Amino acid sequence: MKWILCFFTLLSFGLNSQAQEILSKPKINGPRLYGARPGKEFIYTIPATGARPMSFAVKKLPKGVKIEKSTGIITGSVEKAGEYVIELVAKNKFGKSSKAFTLVIGDKLALTPPMGWSSWYSFGRNVTLDKVIRSAEIMKEKGLQNYGWSVIEIDDPWTNQPAQNDPVWAKLKTRAEGVYGYYEGPNNLPERVGSVRDSNDELIPNTFFTDIKKFPSIMHKMGFKAGIYSSPGPITCGGVAGSYGYEFVDAKFFADNGFDYLKYDWCSYGSLAKDNSKEELIRPFRLMSDALKAQKRDIVHALCQYGMGNVWEWGDESGGQLWRTEQDVHDTWPSVRNAFKKLSDKAAYVKPGNWNDPDILQIGAVGAQSSGKAGRNGLTFEEQRTVMSMWCMLSAPLLIGANMELMDDATLSLLTNEEIIAVNQDALGRAGSLVKTIENTEFWTKQMEDGSLVVGLLNLSNETRSVKFPFSVLQLEGSQKLRNLWAKSDLGTFNNEYETTIPAHGIVMLQIEK
Ligand code: GLA
Repeated sequence: MKWILCFFTLLSFGLNSQAQEILSKPKINGPRLYGARPGKEFIYTIPATGARPMSFAVKKLPKGVKIEKSTGIITGSVEKAGEYVIELVAKNKFGKSSKAFTLVIGDKLALTPPMGWSSWYSFGRNVTLDKVIRSAEIMKEKGLQNYGWSVIEIDDPWTNQPAQNDPVWAKLKTRAEGVYGYYEGPNNLPERVGSVRDSNDELIPNTFFTDIKKFPSIMHKMGFKAGIYSSPGPITCGGVAGSYGYEFVDAKFFADNGFDYLKYDWCSYGSLAKDNSKEELIRPFRLMSDALKAQKRDIVHALCQYGMGNVWEWGDESGGQLWRTEQDVHDTWPSVRNAFKKLSDKAAYVKPGNWNDPDILQIGAVGAQSSGKAGRNGLTFEEQRTVMSMWCMLSAPLLIGANMELMDDATLSLLTNEEIIAVNQDALGRAGSLVKTIENTEFWTKQMEDGSLVVGLLNLSNETRSVKFPFSVLQLEGSQKLRNLWAKSDLGTFNNEYETTIPAHGIVMLQIEK
């Protein structure tokens, strides 16, 4: 009786994604491959939805790597380069499912765009280690991990700010013409002022991050990857210590403590660069890439320099895996629109291991970096759906900016649609681009590995409109089989065109079968 009641209660809540999971057999999500370097430690958690408890196994796992059966956490390192074809298996009381998977041991990391959460838009400069750990716990409770959200990145400012009379501040005042920099006056974070490095030259965490060294192992136990932030300059954008002059010490510190991801933010390096030449722009990132590569652990290098010098043209050469392409994005339509529009013709620079990064997702309760408080989002729900869709269309890194304490079901639905996420995580690694604009509708397409085509119909107008999609805009003829990805439903076969209604600034994501 209790069970029947419970079942009907779930039904009456409309079976949100968490509720559905309680009743279903395993479904293994995530990409079909993962890249790691020979002999370097890594962690990969099998993302799977479905009822818990669930047990995991891997068939043909190479030597040096192990799986924790109760969680699906895979850790270890593989000495020999090569492609290891394995099979992931997940089981629960409703059934079993498996997925072919390839471990690509070679030079490349981030074969599909990184997915995770960053502290910046939830907590801004009020971030603390406790708040970050709590956010990761909520991500787990909400089941986000089961869709592939894996990196938990501590953004600025986790180190100490040098005292006001420190000579570093004077050095930051000048900058060569045309070089972008960021200078926050000294002592704007009085609670975080302190010594910057210890007797071993290691960075000293500020008072809110005393236990920073424990963070990666806490994340790894939860199945997450640990992300951290620094700057190639002496001072980060938030005004605390960066890595200048200590690149190898810091890379070792990050690797030895188990970090998996580094966001490396230009900031005060603008005062050191001689000019805006490619050599000057690439130098600090190449240095950090070399430092990271020399460590025993794989660490993804995320460049952040706001697109200077057409970073997409040389990001790969810098040794990094992803690069910010624009200034900070905000939760307004012009800002997100600018961020993805800029990438409409830059697909050529994107491939597995190389991603254009239009910045953190403006979905859910963001806003802390400007107001000090998360809780608002200036975008409509449909605009936020467009953000998720476009970031997937562009094969952009997906970093959630939302404050997890304020996560609601509507926001969660934007972050847990496995068909939309699969567009982002497709192993072909092609970015989509804008192919045509007709009146107020943009037609974006992305080629998928299975030969299908994802099409985004974006309504730029301020009102709901009926939109016609003539297949000829994609040089396609005759009848086409369409699927609506957000609705996860087949629409049927259409001749020559498809017509639908799209809300203001909204998007319809279609998949055209090969
Ligand atoms: C810059 C970056 C942001 C964030 C802040 C932190 O503005 O672009 O993403 O990391 O610095 O201070």
